[in-house]
Amino acid sequence: MRALHKDFGVEISNVDLREAATYFTQIREAFETHSLLLFRNQILNDEDHLAFGRLFGAIEIREKNPQNQEARLSIVSNLRKDGQLENEVSPRFMHQRANQLWHTDSTFLPNPALANILTARVIPSSGGATEFVSTRVAWSELSVRKRESIRNLVFLHRYAHSRRAVSEAAANLDLVTMWPDTMWRATWRNPITGSEALYLASHIYGVLGMNEREGQNLVNELIKFSTEPHRVYRHHWLPGDVLVWDERATMHRGTSWPYNEERTMASICITASESDGLNQIRPNLPN
Ligand code: OGA
Ligand code: MN
Repeated sequence: MRALHKDFGVEISNVDLREAATYFTQIREAFETHSLLLFRNQILNDEDHLAFGRLFGAIEIREKNPQNQEARLSIVSNLRKDGQLENEVSPRFMHQRANQLWHTDSTFLPNPALANILTARVIPSSGGATEFVSTRVAWSELSVRKRESIRNLVFLHRYAHSRRAVSEAAANLDLVTMWPDTMWRATWRNPITGSEALYLASHIYGVLGMNEREGQNLVNELIKFSTEPHRVYRHHWLPGDVLVWDERATMHRGTSWPYNEERTMASICITASESDGLNQIRPNLPN
């Protein structure tokens, strides 16, 4: 194993993920400990990608229609189905560009995610890296006093909040407004390792019991602290790369590329379950 950043993340070599079931105990252990895993030179078709994901848990389905609950990959691309590149300011592309804000995936879903497994299908000639930080390390480096003041807070999440930061039209897309607001505790303790991490995202619009301004200021301060440049691992994609990250202990963001070139990524999220410590982030609201 080779470290990706001095504080978190490892590259795991000599594994063919089509046979991941064989090594899954070690993979899962590395995931719990290091929060970000890189596997290079993989050959995964859609079914292999889904099968690898199912080893972690149920594949996330962002679809409310009970008729349409089949797990599939999500393709994130600026190449449209009609073969044209997205216009740089179209609402759908602005929606994708909101991925360039520091975030955690799926905090706006009724059941948030444990992990994301991301692969690059078409890599542009420059740019398009993906950046990561460990919110576990950031949490451990806050002062004891600060930690005590934050530990029991509840953060308010809304998908449209992160979309509105880049474009009002993106914030009004049906796929964004269809999810009701969620609230989660400020930290997530890993039930296996016992370590606690800030549970932050660009989707947070407030803090329970604080006025909007005060809540936003606190969240912005925590995101700024957690994403200071020395904390960042920047991944430059090569064909065959597969990244797996722990949504309970990291934040990530995309970066820009020449938008007159195609960039296509394929990903799945895995839904968090009770054994992943989901109860850790449920707010204990007074009746
Ligand atoms: C994601 C994501 C960033 C990127 O797939 O959840 O944020 O670099 N991707 O494409
Ligand atoms: Mn993301």
